[in-house]
Amino acid sequence: MKKNLFLLFVLLSAAVGVRAEKVTIAAKNIAIVLDVENGRQPQYLYFGTRLSAADEAALQLPQGGRMDAYPAYGLNTPAEAALAMRHADGNLSTALVATGVSRQGNVTTIHLEDPVYATQVDLKYKAYADVDMIEMWTEITNREKSAVTLTQFASAMLPIRRGNVWLSHLYGSWANEGRLAEEELLPGQKIIKNKDGVRNSHTDHAEVMFSLDGKGRENAGDVIGAALCYSGNYKLKVETDDTDYHYFFAGINEENSEYHLKRGETFRTPVLALTFSREGLSGASRNFHKWGRTYQLAHGNKPRKILLNSWEGVYFDINEAGMDQMMADIAGMGGELFVMDDGWFGEKYPRKNDHTSLGDWQVDRQKLPHGIEGLIADAGKHGISFGIWIEPEMTNRISELYEKHPDWIIKAPRRDAVQGRGGTQLVLDLSNPKVQDFAFGIVDGLMTRYPGIDYIKWDANMAVMNHGSQYLPMQDQSHLYIAYHEGFRKLCDRIRSKYPDLTIQACASGGGRANWGVLPWFDEFWVSDNTDALQRVYMQWGTSYFFPAIAMASHISAVPNHTVFRTTSLKYRIDVAMSGRLGMEIQPKNMTDAEKALCRQAITEYKQIRPVVQFGNIYRLQSPYDRQGVASLMYVDDARSKAVFYWWKTDNFANQHLPRIKMAGLQANRNYRVHELNRIDNKPLDFERKSFSGAYLMEHGLEIPYTHSVDHAERNEWSSRVLFLEAQ
Ligand code: GLA
Repeated sequence: MKKNLFLLFVLLSAAVGVRAEKVTIAAKNIAIVLDVENGRQPQYLYFGTRLSAADEAALQLPQGGRMDAYPAYGLNTPAEAALAMRHADGNLSTALVATGVSRQGNVTTIHLEDPVYATQVDLKYKAYADVDMIEMWTEITNREKSAVTLTQFASAMLPIRRGNVWLSHLYGSWANEGRLAEEELLPGQKIIKNKDGVRNSHTDHAEVMFSLDGKGRENAGDVIGAALCYSGNYKLKVETDDTDYHYFFAGINEENSEYHLKRGETFRTPVLALTFSREGLSGASRNFHKWGRTYQLAHGNKPRKILLNSWEGVYFDINEAGMDQMMADIAGMGGELFVMDDGWFGEKYPRKNDHTSLGDWQVDRQKLPHGIEGLIADAGKHGISFGIWIEPEMTNRISELYEKHPDWIIKAPRRDAVQGRGGTQLVLDLSNPKVQDFAFGIVDGLMTRYPGIDYIKWDANMAVMNHGSQYLPMQDQSHLYIAYHEGFRKLCDRIRSKYPDLTIQACASGGGRANWGVLPWFDEFWVSDNTDALQRVYMQWGTSYFFPAIAMASHISAVPNHTVFRTTSLKYRIDVAMSGRLGMEIQPKNMTDAEKALCRQAITEYKQIRPVVQFGNIYRLQSPYDRQGVASLMYVDDARSKAVFYWWKTDNFANQHLPRIKMAGLQANRNYRVHELNRIDNKPLDFERKSFSGAYLMEHGLEIPYTHSVDHAERNEWSSRVLFLEAQ
């Protein structure tokens, strides 16, 4: 009560704009405290778990570091800055001091101004009462006589305490997305950045975690998590300098993107979402997932359908009979949705491969004589929903669209366009409102003609390779990347305001769009074009640091795998896919009856555990990156009465003993009955249907047999288990 009164006092005094000493931005269990004094740059006092009023009152400014809330370039030039600009008269120096604090709902604003120039900077903080997340962003307004140029414009800066701080982040490439990297922060700079222009998570990711007390542990230790919510080029920078603090800057990548801010215009930076957990890396992940499902992800509270996607099954070989057969097969296995991937469109230039037709979104009647309406009717007949693939931001040199609108593509002035996939792909210039209208029309046209479409797979298979907009004036060419993503935002907003219920997947040559900046419009993302189950254990492990299972599309595919040519067992493929948003990406026609039966069983069982997987809390238990021969994680529901435990063997050596895995997240004093899902063994596990206390499961764990007891002819090198735990 006292704490609340104190907070109220702080907030009330802030609201009336008087000189405020301490400004607290408090989410459910975490808080930022700033020292704000009019006429000075606000200072960070604290970031961590919420403090008592007494502790908060006693807070002192950390010594020996630079605690500026939003350092500007010019009057302490050796230090890194969050903001740098050229004023209208050419002056490169900026000073920012507080002029007041205001509050509206759960958003606190600290108003800053340059005492000499009419530059206003509002630092915005949005704190959620029911989740542990604080969103920060900045609004920069030019009130000078003419345009100013922004050359650095971070969303936020956070000084991170001295000591043995470790950084966890994701890296990778096409077919190898979401790899986890962990490193100690040492003096110097660590930069994580993206310059793709269109997609931003194939390689590095715009989310990081900082473990504050040595190398990160999954279920213990203090962890700060940060996610830059932006669809475009970003830069995250950690500078560890002679003060030994780690200064973390995050924002749009300013390289080749200086921004001319007109008089009266406001530049709003993307949100940096910040969390803090005392329960290790998994704890920070749970905070991201809960906040994400509640406030960011499209339909974050709606269970996802189990689908079959046609891509790896038939690639471009789309035809009516084939689609009908696939729909019948997935319906027969208990699936709920069929998605027709690439290859269904193009009249003058039918899409037979990736060389042609993007932009020509008319049905190829040769392949589909009864059109999309025919397919939707077929889906209805099989009792499932229908989805379709599009790639709205792109065209090919060989397309009717390009013939009509060569001026709509991105290319450097006076040079030929660089062509991408298929040797002919081109990126449309979304900074151009006409292109935005066209792209909106693709979705709108499909949805108007075929209101039965339930799901769209939205792909983006090319980077901005050449810098240049045919729409933007020559003096504003540096606006290209920002304007593209502003156009993308407008387009997505428009689509969502007209089609709020549509399910939309963000795909981008696989996992190029796994970012919280796009997920408010998208229901999920395709983790990777690589569906090999073993590699997926690694990729999905990393991806789960920041994204919940409900958003991670994870499909059972054929063997040998089409990317790595590895042959895993169907059981293993199922057990891995079942830890995300389960789907299939296979030609069911080529499956045996026994394989179909196993998938049918898995789909039935997934429906039972779907709420736990898709809405539960993740506890990562044994990392595949530790190379112990096994990886394991679990999801526990909010009531801690149901849990799903996954165990995947990652190596296969005779007489190699595997660590026994301790569970987490259960209630110590409750008993949980264990039931194996997707069972293939001839006999049940020793602990099948037996009950154990949460304490036992968390302190000792179950001894999982290393192999499957199946007939000799059925044996293979793969071993995995999925256990369903229910409190008694
Ligand atoms: C990209 C996607 C795939 C598939 C193909 C279609 O590579 O990541 O899933 O949709 O395009 O061309």
